[in-house]
Amino acid sequence: MKRFEVVSKRKLNENMTWLVIYAPLVARKARPGQFIILRTDEYGERIPLTMAGHDEEKGTIDLIYAAVGRTTMLMDQLEVGDCFADIVGPLGKPTHMEGLKKVCVVGGGTGNALAYPLATGMHAAGIEVDMIAGFKNKDLVILEEEFRAGTDNLYMVTDDGSYGEKAFTTDKLKELIAAGNQYDEIIAVGPPIMMKFVCQIAAENNIPSVASLTAYMIDGTGMCGGCRCNIGGEDKFVCVDGPEFDGALVDWDELIQRNTFYATEEADERAHVCRLTGGVRYHD
Ligand SMILES: Cc1cc2nc3c(=O)[nH]c(=O)nc-3n(C[C@H](O)[C@H](O)[C@H](O)COP(=O)(O)OP(=O)(O)OC[C@H]3O[C@@H](n4cnc5c(N)ncnc54)[C@H](O)[C@@H]3O)c2cc1C
Ligand code: FES
Repeated sequence: MKRFEVVSKRKLNENMTWLVIYAPLVARKARPGQFIILRTDEYGERIPLTMAGHDEEKGTIDLIYAAVGRTTMLMDQLEVGDCFADIVGPLGKPTHMEGLKKVCVVGGGTGNALAYPLATGMHAAGIEVDMIAGFKNKDLVILEEEFRAGTDNLYMVTDDGSYGEKAFTTDKLKELIAAGNQYDEIIAVGPPIMMKFVCQIAAENNIPSVASLTAYMIDGTGMCGGCRCNIGGEDKFVCVDGPEFDGALVDWDELIQRNTFYATEEADERAHVCRLTGGVRYHD
């Protein structure tokens, strides 16, 4: 097996894919909540992705990603037997689990891919896990079987009611708290606006919250400052201090603003992936 070779590839829905990749040195040290940074080829951009799982014996790591831009669209074109140029990791701090007895993990859309290792990792460590998995509609639902097998209670909700219960994740969370569930922690993983409101609900109910932040990253080692976020008035680097932070301390409005900073450039890069040949036209 070659280094960073794609071992298996499974489409979860039109937009999301599950890859298993041979990366034995990364797999040996991986823990739930950690991520890697990869490049598809030597000219490629570096992008961070959470490890959805790892198998130390087989030397593999799992990535679940949404094809949203140039690099993830290029990843879609890799097949079993193809190799990534490089994968660096594990990066970031593993999920904090000490002292927790019962938690509620709230995943929104693509964030469910990141919530998966976290929720199932906590369950495997003996913590009781209620999982709220929210999607816009039925076509976007992923990982239902996996969540059902790897958590204690799964609540599937969609915005339009086309699958599971018609509710926002925040409605379901309020309902579970009102029903008397005593959570030691609520963990939010999804679009920043969803995480902001999940963490607000937690604070209103005096429950600690944790949010997994997906800031823009470049080196992933604390050197470039690209992933800087304001946490409780202090500058923190998501790549080395996170990616999980106390949800009550995150400056959500700043984070939401920063995440749209490169919208024009990203649209331009996407336009350079040829839909017919899959080729990329690099800038000079
Ligand atoms: C620690 C960490 C873990 C992540 N784990 C996963 C994962 O497991 N699965 C997954 O699908 N995605 C994950 N992401 C987001 C992923 O890194 C971006 O989707 C990816 O960088 C997009 O690259 P691109 O070149 O394909 O698209 P781009 O053209 O760079 O961006 C396309 C769209 O994605 C948005 N985007 C770009 N970068 C990010 C980012 N860092 N966070 C949020 N939105 C972004 C842009 O605003 C834009 O709308 C993670 C991000 C971080 C920081
Ligand atoms: S990605 Fe460079 S400091 Fe975090």
